Amino acid sequence: MMGTVVTYERHGSVGVIRINNPPVNALSHAVRYGIMEALATASTDDSLAVVLSCDGRTFIAGADITEFGKPPQAPSLPDLLLTLDNHPKLTIAAIHGTALGGGFEVALTCNYRIALATGKVGLPEVKLGLLPGAGGTQRTPRLAGLPAAVDLITSGNPISAQRAMTLQLVDKVVEDSLEDSAIAYGVELVEQSAPQRQASALALSLSAEDKYLIESMKAKLLKKTRGEHAPQRILDCLIAAAESPFESGLKREREEFMKCLADPQSAALRHMFFAERAAAKIEKLPKDTQPLAITSVGIIGAGTMGGGIAMCFAQAGIAVTLVDMTDEAVKLGLEKIAKNYAISEKKGRLTRAHIDLTMANITTSSNFDDLANVDMVIEAVFENLEVKKEVFAKLDGICKPGAVLASNTSYQSIDEIAAATMRPESVLGMHFFSPANVMKLLEVVKGAASSDAVIATAMAVGKKIGKVSVLSGMCYGFIGNRMLKHYGREAALCLIEGSTPAQIDSAMESWGMAMGPLAVSDLAGLDIGYKAREQLTAEQKGDPASYMVADRLVEAGRLGQKSGAGYYQYDPETRERQEDSAVMSIVTAARQELGITPRELKDAEIVNRLTLALANEGAKLLQEGIAQRASDIDVVYCYGYGFPRFKGGPMHTIESMGLDIAVAQINEFHGRLNPEHWQVAPLLAELVDNGGQLADYHRE
Ligand code: 3HC
Repeated sequence: MMGTVVTYERHGSVGVIRINNPPVNALSHAVRYGIMEALATASTDDSLAVVLSCDGRTFIAGADITEFGKPPQAPSLPDLLLTLDNHPKLTIAAIHGTALGGGFEVALTCNYRIALATGKVGLPEVKLGLLPGAGGTQRTPRLAGLPAAVDLITSGNPISAQRAMTLQLVDKVVEDSLEDSAIAYGVELVEQSAPQRQASALALSLSAEDKYLIESMKAKLLKKTRGEHAPQRILDCLIAAAESPFESGLKREREEFMKCLADPQSAALRHMFFAERAAAKIEKLPKDTQPLAITSVGIIGAGTMGGGIAMCFAQAGIAVTLVDMTDEAVKLGLEKIAKNYAISEKKGRLTRAHIDLTMANITTSSNFDDLANVDMVIEAVFENLEVKKEVFAKLDGICKPGAVLASNTSYQSIDEIAAATMRPESVLGMHFFSPANVMKLLEVVKGAASSDAVIATAMAVGKKIGKVSVLSGMCYGFIGNRMLKHYGREAALCLIEGSTPAQIDSAMESWGMAMGPLAVSDLAGLDIGYKAREQLTAEQKGDPASYMVADRLVEAGRLGQKSGAGYYQYDPETRERQEDSAVMSIVTAARQELGITPRELKDAEIVNRLTLALANEGAKLLQEGIAQRASDIDVVYCYGYGFPRFKGGPMHTIESMGLDIAVAQINEFHGRLNPEHWQVAPLLAELVDNGGQLADYHRE
């Protein structure tokens, strides 16, 4: 196998093992096998040192994630690294791009490390629900000390080559000619009779300070990464590194790694890794479709949403013209942006120089004519179809031909908005989530006439401004909000049937949601849904039991956090939520009015009803072709709605519980609860009948 993905050649007294396994030189079976063979050759030839380097865009970016869960194939990575650690020649890793996970563990096992200044190193396994399983938890603290290792491995964030050199994880940094420099470094080390330095042989002990650090980190991560198993296991491995000899620590690391690998959390997080990358792909897009260049953007509406969107573009170096009806409105909008940045500066997240550069990308105007030359316009005005149609008709008369015209609407018909222009092919939806400068999700909504190039442009721009973009077809609420309606309905029904806001929210939060549904409603403002319902007919509003309490709360002046009370009472200082007996009086009155006898609901019923309501609607969206693939729905929920990534999104949740079990549960709800709410999605029934999987489903 050597010779295809791994080659070995001599450069004078130095042997070079070169890996070429595009796109990211992952440690697939062929790569491990090839390196093992090359090490064997190098151990018997007359080379004096061995350089390990990679072709293409990066050094090894880790184990091959696609191999996890499949039968193992020898040599395993730990076996390979044992051979590397005990190799008779001096070994040097030459790092460019990103040396990550198992890739960095290979480098840490070499005697020396040289890196390009642009290179980065890291141990991101925690993001996949794993821990470094090939010595990373044992070698990193031996080289860099425990505090740095705790940081690097529990955060999973890569660090620059320069920082790695400061931490003694890298020995030399060069500006260019990496491989030549690595060969020269090898010659130099041999000439100096440098020792074959093994990280595994370095001493490490656990000081009282380290012990304190790890204990406090454990407590901090229990809160910050609530419900996740890998961060705690990482800290256990780091303690083992300091308290036991290298071999015992390595054994402990292996055991913990295998536990992580078998944990459904890792399966979910690996699913999310591939889901995020799949979401960027547009099915059936003609190969020659080119996204349009976007160097300037107009944003209409300087409110919270428009301001947040402006920040995203300005931070990506794209010129923004922020427009509103009056000079006063744009002034206020700009002040709000400046205030947001000042908070980031205070927290040490951004420097003043960076903020000044970013703010310089934003100009303001109260004249729509100033949008004549921008490449893209994003409308973020009041959520009203007529107002939006007026704005688009106006833009049609002003903007240059070919400009992309996007609406940030959460619900309205992109087709009706597009019909207000003479260029419906240039119109589409770009639905940001609040706060837009923080939330990672961008729903790109395709209208019936939106052109391929315009869709590709919105997806590409989303990536450029750091969003995870998901394509949605046209329907009321698109992917996310259409599903949310069913989730919210079940939360309201659980409440009126016998639960309390605190039980519902804590059941969902203990399960993993970032915030329970009623606390989220309080945060968003209960008046928003109230106003939306006012425009609906009784039939459109649905079952009164699903909104009566919310209506009564608003009528009692309880609008949520902004009025100090909603489903909860809020501490004016800390904003902490507290249960409120006044809410339960409203709930009791509503129960009586509707003739509902309260019963005890178990937490499991609440979790099942809310998650299955989401997934059942998700399956309908998938079959209708609104979502391109099941994993896109998972991305929407994890990045836009606080669904726990370690559960993998609503569709992965039911796939992993078993679709047959999910369907049986929905049928049980159909028999016991409101049957209209619980109609099994035809796609789920079909998949159960033919043994299919959501992950493989593609609409013809
Ligand atoms: N295994 C398999 N495939 C991988 C991979 C990996 N480790 N890393 C990336 N890929 C694939 C991606 O799925 C993508 O495939 P696609 O083109 O078919 O969608 C392709 O490589 C390119 O990846 P990106 O689109 O992410 O490319 P970028 O240039 O944006 O980013 C990267 C490159 C920074 C290397 C990023 O891919 C990344 O972060 N990869 C994962 C790194 C990682 O988590 N490593 C640890 C693995 S676990 C481990 O090593 C366990 C060990 O301790 C035992």
